[in-house]
Amino acid sequence: MKKLIAGNWKMNGSKAEAISLAQDLAALVKNDLDILQRADLLVCPPFLHIEAVQKAIGSSGLSAGVQDCAQNSNGAHTGDISASMIKDIGCEYVILGHSERRTNHQESDAVIAQKAIIAHENNLMTIICVGETEEERSQGREKDVIGLQLDQSIPEETAVENNIVIAYEPVWAIGTGKTASPEDVADMHAFIRAKLESRFTEGNTIRILYGGSMKPENAKALLSTPNVDGGLIGGASLKADQFIAIAKEA
Ligand code: PGA
Repeated sequence: MKKLIAGNWKMNGSKAEAISLAQDLAALVKNDLDILQRADLLVCPPFLHIEAVQKAIGSSGLSAGVQDCAQNSNGAHTGDISASMIKDIGCEYVILGHSERRTNHQESDAVIAQKAIIAHENNLMTIICVGETEEERSQGREKDVIGLQLDQSIPEETAVENNIVIAYEPVWAIGTGKTASPEDVADMHAFIRAKLESRFTEGNTIRILYGGSMKPENAKALLSTPNVDGGLIGGASLKADQFIAIAKEA
């Protein structure tokens, strides 16, 4: 399966910084077009910078997506951005249910599933994030937690398998410099794969990304772990050379 290397820029950077990062990425990709044979490259800047980033990446082969969308189609929802608006400006991907949204905005699995339904109605690919906390792992409950998140945040609708990517991001590994060991990642990704296969006829075609302190130094080990079909990268996606170095390990 072709890997997906996705950068989650979170709430970082001015417009000028976003443009400069996107231009640097585009230049690095143009210098090494082989990368695009091995991996699809996606960057998810803050909403306000999307169009500037799209312009800066131009026809380099990188694509731009977003970090969230509204759970309603359109209308009186102050501050929200709808999936149809996201599609309208030419994005193909939306990250949903990132642990920072689950925590900071109390997003439940049900809300994430509802967002995914609206996103799929608008032909967006959803990257649905799941992850256990350190406490849940120390109690040995990580698979129960991930299993429940998968059951409840992936919506019940037809042809879901063609529209979703799963990102396994242990909460304790996000932005902390700690990563899950390749053995733990292999174990969890096999569990996620089995869940997807038991629910969907094409469950073996769904990409499962790993996220949480992925860096050029650990990317090779993580990306060569069975059932790891790419990465969702936060901190290291803000440095063009690091993001591309990770993509080269795909
Ligand atoms: P990190 O973030 O790479 O900085 O740990 C990953 C994420 O939150 O998606």
